[in-house]
Amino acid sequence: MTQFRLADRVAKLPPYLFAEIDRLKAEVKSQGMDIISLGIGDPDLPTPDFIIEALHASAKKPENHQYPSYTGLLSFRKAVADWYKTRFGVDLDPDNEVVSLIGSKEGIAHFPLAFIDPGDLALIASPNYPVYPVATGFAGGESLILPLTPDNDFLPDLDAVSDAQWDRAKVIFVNYPNNPTGATAPREFYEKLVKKARDTGTILVSDAAYTEMYFDAAKKPLSIFEIPGAKDVAIEFHSLSKTYNMTGWRIGMAVGNESLVKGLGKIKENVDSGIFQAVQEAGVAALTQGEPYAASFRAIYKERRDLAVPALRKMGLDCRTPDASFYLWCRVPAGETSAGFVSRVLKNTGVVVTPGNGFGAPGEGFFRIALTVGKQRLEEALSRIASL
Ligand code: MLT
Repeated sequence: MTQFRLADRVAKLPPYLFAEIDRLKAEVKSQGMDIISLGIGDPDLPTPDFIIEALHASAKKPENHQYPSYTGLLSFRKAVADWYKTRFGVDLDPDNEVVSLIGSKEGIAHFPLAFIDPGDLALIASPNYPVYPVATGFAGGESLILPLTPDNDFLPDLDAVSDAQWDRAKVIFVNYPNNPTGATAPREFYEKLVKKARDTGTILVSDAAYTEMYFDAAKKPLSIFEIPGAKDVAIEFHSLSKTYNMTGWRIGMAVGNESLVKGLGKIKENVDSGIFQAVQEAGVAALTQGEPYAASFRAIYKERRDLAVPALRKMGLDCRTPDASFYLWCRVPAGETSAGFVSRVLKNTGVVVTPGNGFGAPGEGFFRIALTVGKQRLEEALSRIASL
């Protein structure tokens, strides 16, 4: 069979991190090992019944069986705006400042096509969700990594970027609560970031998918739009995936600056046809009635976090206690690489964790644990790691 040559921009990509983890998992499983996957941020708890019932009722309506609107049902966009108002005190115009997404990954991946020209620079706080640099590259842009380390509290040093680099920068990507480190951004950092973006005319992309996975109600993660002036320069990506255990449903939203939301919408009109309306109506149910469920999920992740962090520390591993997200970020033992350690753990114990370098060079020397199994399996995974 003819083997066609991939386009250069695709040929040079490393394997997609989470697809590669699936592949390794399948390989070890085929050797008969009992796999415990802490490798991907995919909630193990089911989507709440009331959301499934809303989908069911909505799927029965024939008017929902045709093409949806490109920007999303107005009822979904209004539910997003109301949710932002209730949760963050932020006003959004559902007609112009909200667009539905087939999961936030889709929106993040398409955004650079709307705003990055070949040769433009994207500043990427890293370790990072792998899609930011990949999508930047697809648009012909270049990435400049801003390292997030324990020494800078996992906040990028905005002053380390030169004036010339700020001049060239078209976009800056930040992600708080942060995947993979679990760090959150204090208000002062966001204020400085918004000011810098406004002063330099840089688009500020905030990936906020994990704002609802917090562990201290007194320190709820912020939306970038809680900072005055942010709407001048920012777009925020959010998702129902993690908050309501809906990763498989593919539903999210982008909100904020009208020209940024509309620019993304223009790409989307040309490449996709929106989200099944029954999924959007289920999304409305989630956003309007889901808070008690989200609170119960937070309690479960907190219990897992408080079980895992001390156990890992007892093994001599240096792990952060995350303020938010369901990820633990730990250093690999001295003398090992991220990939070497993760592969040793997988091959010897069947426990899947994620190599830190998969999130960019500043992640080398770390690994990530996703708290995505119940207490008993988590204890089992921890005792297997301890036995190494
Ligand atoms: C992760 O494990 O980092 C996430 O689940 C990936 C994603 O949300 O696409």
